[in-house]
Amino acid sequence: AVERTLSIIKPDAVAKNVIGDIISRFEKAGLCVIAARMAHLSQSEAEQFYAVHRERPFFGELVGFMTSGPVLVQVLEGEDAIARNREIMGATNPKEAAPGTIRADFAETIDANAVHGSDAPETAAQEIGFFFSDEQICPRG
Ligand code: CMP
Repeated sequence: AVERTLSIIKPDAVAKNVIGDIISRFEKAGLCVIAARMAHLSQSEAEQFYAVHRERPFFGELVGFMTSGPVLVQVLEGEDAIARNREIMGATNPKEAAPGTIRADFAETIDANAVHGSDAPETAAQEIGFFFSDEQICPRG
């Protein structure tokens, strides 16, 4: 089915100036960018976005990293967009990411892992709504 997923190009990848390379991977995988904006997340935005991880030992570092510089937030649309995006991102830990995936090619550490992607339809809807209103989303005709 055609799905939507939320993608974030994280501060490490923005700092490396590889936004275009990463978007090109999405497009080559059949995903379309239907909304996008740059953002420099505040502490409270990052805490809210990652609230599900609040009790995890890495929460503080995660929030610190995600507020350390600008990010590109996007909505991607396409056939099986959620799973397809996760496939091309590779494993959360770049050291475990399959060759040719975004994280294998652009990421350094589990925190500085280049990209975020929604993990399920419910979280995708919630994460998209966190960053974008309906008028900001422009599906292809
Ligand atoms: P992301 O998909 O953005 O969701 C939560 C982030 O927490 C994850 O990517 C990683 O960058 C970061 N993180 C740090 N340590 C861990 C860990 N042990 N397990 C999962 N995620 C982690």
